[in-house]
Amino acid sequence: MRFFLFFACVIHAGNWAHGCEIKFTPPMVYVEFGGSTSANCKALCNNTEGIGWESSFGGTGLKQGLTTLDVNLKDVNDWNTAPKCYILLSNGVQDIVPLPITVYKMPKKVFMSKPPSPLMADNEYHLLKCSVHDVAPVNRLVISWHKGDKMVYEMKFEGADRRPVNKSVETTIIIDAEDNGKKVWCEVKLDFPADQRPQPMQSEKHELTVYYPPTFTEPENETLENVVGTKISLNCTATGNPTPVYKWDFADSTLKGMPKQNATGSIFTLDFRTPVVYKCVASNAAGERTKYFHLNQPEGNYTTMAALLGVFLTLGAVIIIIGAIFVTRNGSCALPRTIY
Ligand SMILES: *[C@@H]1O[C@H](CO)[C@@H](O)[C@H](O)[C@H]1NC(C)=O
Ligand SMILES: *[C@@H]1O[C@H](CO)[C@@H](O)[C@H](O)[C@H]1NC(C)=O
Ligand SMILES: *[C@@H]1O[C@H](CO)[C@@H](O)[C@H](O)[C@H]1NC(C)=O
Ligand SMILES: *[C@@H]1O[C@H](CO)[C@@H](O)[C@H](O)[C@H]1NC(C)=O
Repeated sequence: MRFFLFFACVIHAGNWAHGCEIKFTPPMVYVEFGGSTSANCKALCNNTEGIGWESSFGGTGLKQGLTTLDVNLKDVNDWNTAPKCYILLSNGVQDIVPLPITVYKMPKKVFMSKPPSPLMADNEYHLLKCSVHDVAPVNRLVISWHKGDKMVYEMKFEGADRRPVNKSVETTIIIDAEDNGKKVWCEVKLDFPADQRPQPMQSEKHELTVYYPPTFTEPENETLENVVGTKISLNCTATGNPTPVYKWDFADSTLKGMPKQNATGSIFTLDFRTPVVYKCVASNAAGERTKYFHLNQPEGNYTTMAALLGVFLTLGAVIIIIGAIFVTRNGSCALPRTIY
């Protein structure tokens, strides 16, 4: 707070001329190099004899009897121009106050170096360089880096130089899989009040090509139960850049040979015969990932089968026994009759 008051005092004091306050409108003038603008100076006291502007662009000379005066600054092509307003007081004292003025120039060109292509989505930082030529003033220069629709970094500068400068700066940005296809560029603006700010300028945009390893949508491994005797298809589809290629095999490397079904591509169809674990390796230039498919014949199935088999066997045995008894009774009773 004290700091702020100090500054307020300094700024205020700047517009004071031995007891006569001067008010500039606008309080700060922004003019493009070679361009024109105007400003007003007003004496806020009543012991004035006259007022005038001293400037190499549109100075007015002393105007007797006035307390307010405009100046038209035409074709301002001096980086160090310092127009001043002066007031002649009735006691003969002359006071001079400089007009706060900023002469600016937007760059001719903003350049961003082309990022390496392809980039790997490896969570590493990558340098992006941005260059501007011929921009002023450096202490109002703001360079920002953009990726997709986000600003990723902003850089401001210091320096008392009022003449145009060249700047070549770089920053690091992190690249991930989602950045594939996004555009990067940098933008230059001057940090002026919004209504006086020239249009920001952008570099060309570079599209990112980001390589990333295959990733499976959940689940990463799959267990398929109860698939005895059915035609099943295993889905190993993974996203990745470049597009992954797939290799199927038994997880147990001692098992030799794959079934006849198509074992290329991300979908593997087969007729299930025995419980086994299949393995699919999806790979591309950025890496490889393995997905396992456990084809189970659950224990529950065996007991059901056993129970069913048991019931059938028991039923069969009962039928045979009953049949045997029936045959024996009839046979032993009927046969002698038939024989006789
Ligand atoms: C800025 O770069 C241009 C072109 O490379 C050059 O002509 C000019 O002298 C440079 N300006 C400064 C201030 O270094
Ligand atoms: C998938 O299965 C393999 C082998 O059975 C195992 O090493 C790996 O940790 C499993 N991955 C997940 C995410 O469950
Ligand atoms: C395989 O899985 C992918 C991703 O999970 C999905 O988009 C695709 O439709 C699936 N294909 C089949 C044949 O189920
Ligand atoms: C097997 O794969 C080849 C090459 O990918 C394809 O042309 C063919 O249609 C596939 N066959 C079956 C039965 O899926």
